Amino acid sequence: MGNIAMIYASVHHGNTKKAVDYLSTKISATVVDVTKEKAFDVSEYDTVIFASGIYFGQFHKSILEYIETVDVLGKNVILLYTCGIKVQDYAKKLKKILEQKGATVLGDCYCRGFDTYGFLAKIGGIAKNHPNEKDLEKIYSSIQQMCKVE
Ligand SMILES: Cc1cc2nc3c(=O)[nH]c(=O)nc-3n(C[C@H](O)[C@H](O)[C@H](O)COP(=O)(O)O)c2cc1C
Repeated sequence: MGNIAMIYASVHHGNTKKAVDYLSTKISATVVDVTKEKAFDVSEYDTVIFASGIYFGQFHKSILEYIETVDVLGKNVILLYTCGIKVQDYAKKLKKILEQKGATVLGDCYCRGFDTYGFLAKIGGIAKNHPNEKDLEKIYSSIQQMCKVE
């Protein structure tokens, strides 16, 4: 895997940050909040994990904008997202963009995350208590498999 950067956006309930924090206890990586650090230099990293909540069917705008400007040619990329409910493959579009930019997308993984957007607040939200410990372990194990690390 080489040098790893985890570049994330987590603006709703910190659900994605929970996953990023968990992973950073398991793997050695530089962690970057791309909503704050928009010009992070990724050149010295071999593997980049892009992590985000899903907002209106997409990764966060700050991740999308960052990916537009950044050189990912030859880099290994993993996509991680948390979403209220998976009704489609939220990583598909971004995966294509990254591949067109010359990145090797090793895979994607996700878990549900507490969602109180809009009318959902009125019913107490969905995916309450997610990500939980089991979700986080599953994400870590998916990433291990993608990287074929023991
Ligand atoms: C403005 C907004 C739009 C959202 N749109 C979707 C969506 O299209 N599909 C979905 O499954 N979840 C959607 N969600 C739920 C979030 O993806 C989910 O709560 C996620 O875990 C948030 O991650 P975060 O806490 O790291 O920001 C939306 C949430 C917000 C606030």
